[in-house]
Order: sequence, then structure tokens, then C-alpha cells
Amino acid sequence: MPQPRPPYRVGPSEFDIDPDRLEVAVARYDQGKGLIGGNPERRPRWLHPLPPEPASVFRLLESSPEHRQRLQTFLTAAPLEIEIGSAYGEFILDWAAAHPERHFLAFEVKWKLLARLAKRSERRGLANLWLSDDDARYDLPRLLAPGSVDVFHILFPDPWWKPKHQARRLFVPPFVDLLAQLLHPGGMLRVATDVPGYGEVIQDLVEGHGAFTPTQPQLAARFAGATPTSRQAFCEETGRPYTYYYFVRR
Ligand SMILES: C[S@@+](CC[C@H](N)C(=O)[O-])C[C@H]1O[C@@H](n2cnc3c(N)ncnc32)[C@H](O)[C@@H]1O
Repeated sequence: MPQPRPPYRVGPSEFDIDPDRLEVAVARYDQGKGLIGGNPERRPRWLHPLPPEPASVFRLLESSPEHRQRLQTFLTAAPLEIEIGSAYGEFILDWAAAHPERHFLAFEVKWKLLARLAKRSERRGLANLWLSDDDARYDLPRLLAPGSVDVFHILFPDPWWKPKHQARRLFVPPFVDLLAQLLHPGGMLRVATDVPGYGEVIQDLVEGHGAFTPTQPQLAARFAGATPTSRQAFCEETGRPYTYYYFVRR
């Protein structure tokens, strides 16, 4: 059944960077500055219930030790691909179904979207997909060993236009350090955006990092059969340009 089209905004034409706020965000990154929903360690409780265990959905600070152990086993049992910001899940549900020999972990902080994703995954019997509504930035360094990820998919990340929200942007130097640490040599960071200024920032940060090759557009062939995300479909319908980047871990 076709999904309802989300109410996408196009955003201002200029992608601004507020250097002072970004400096604070980077300086306080390890204390959880910019995490969506705040630092989960200081959260008194979670308002929304997750599907009951053993469904393949977790919150790092809420799930039982047994459930987290199942997750840890899953994360190391096959080549691992991670999506950050799955939203409606068009891409990850089809991609996981098409690659039963690989394992997938998808993060989506919006609980309603996550709950819908979980239902659709269960309906399709996807045993190779785990989900969380934690902020991926909190979980990744706590869950995964260095070099344990094969592919990161970060498709149309929020640009967070307002200066006061810029600390929430994924692409800042400590986040690129994290991706570099978690990908194994030869692993891939696949990113898309329709915000040209953000694309430039991402490309500068990743290519300037030293751990990644310049983007390799020919690697798009590996994802030729991938279902477009909902934001990509919106861009295609409205003629809005977008760019995919494929950075390989050296
Ligand atoms: C602009 S939407 C793009 C969604 C989808 N990838 C697409 O292309 O249609 C970005 C999504 O990422 C989610 N998100 C943003 N930051 C996140 C984070 N740190 N961890 C997990 N999800 C995040 C948002 O809730 C939102 O659903």
C-alpha cells in the first residue's frame, strides 16, 4: 500500500553555519550536547512503550540485559549495515529483505515512525533487522567495537537550519571520527542530501578527515536496486536536485 507523503519542507536557500554554536557543540559533544531528546542518562523515564521483548527493537538504557545480549550476538554474526534516520523505512525494509545474509541496524529517533517501522518489519518477517529510537550518536560507541561496521547509510540527514539547533547536526568532526573508528578498512559511508551547502560541509569533513577516500560515484552501482527513501522520492517528484556520496574507509 502506498505510504502517505510526509509534509516535506524545502528550507531556506542558504545553508548557514554558526561557528560559535558549532564550537560549543563540538567541545561538549562527549557530554551529549545536541543529542535528540537530551542525554538519555538524565532522562527520568521513557514515555512511549516499545514492542515487548523479544521483538528486535531496543533502547540501550531500557532494554533488559538478556535482550541487549541478543542484540550483541546479532551485531557480530554477519556483515553489518547501519542506517541513521530511517523515517518511513522504505529503503531499509526493502534492502534488508533483499540481503538476508547481512545484518542491519536502523535508528529513528521519532517514536511514531519507529513503531510503524517495527510493525512493518515484523509483518515482513525480517529476522536480520534490529531497530531503535535512541539517538544513534549515543548508542554507536557503546554498542560496537572498532572496525565492526561494513556500511553506514545516512540518507538526507536533517540540516537543522536554525542556529540554535545546529548542535543537532550529525556531521561535525567528532561524529566523523566515530564513523571512521567503527567502519572496517574497505567499509563504506553512503550519504545523500538535497541541501547543497550541507553536502559541501559533509564532503569537506569526510574527505578532509584522512581516514576516507574521496567520494566514489561509481559505487552507486552497488546500490542500483535500492528503494528510494521518502525524501528522495519527494525530490524526484518535485525536480529537486540531490547528491549521493560514497566514501570508502581507507
Ligand atoms: C530528513 S529525515 C530523512 C529521512 C529518510 N532518511 C529519508 O531520506 O526520507 C531525517 C530523519 O532522521 C531522524 N534522525 C535525525 N537525527 C537522528 C539521530 N541522531 N539518530 C537517529 N535518527 C535521527 C529524524 O527523526 C528524521 O526522521
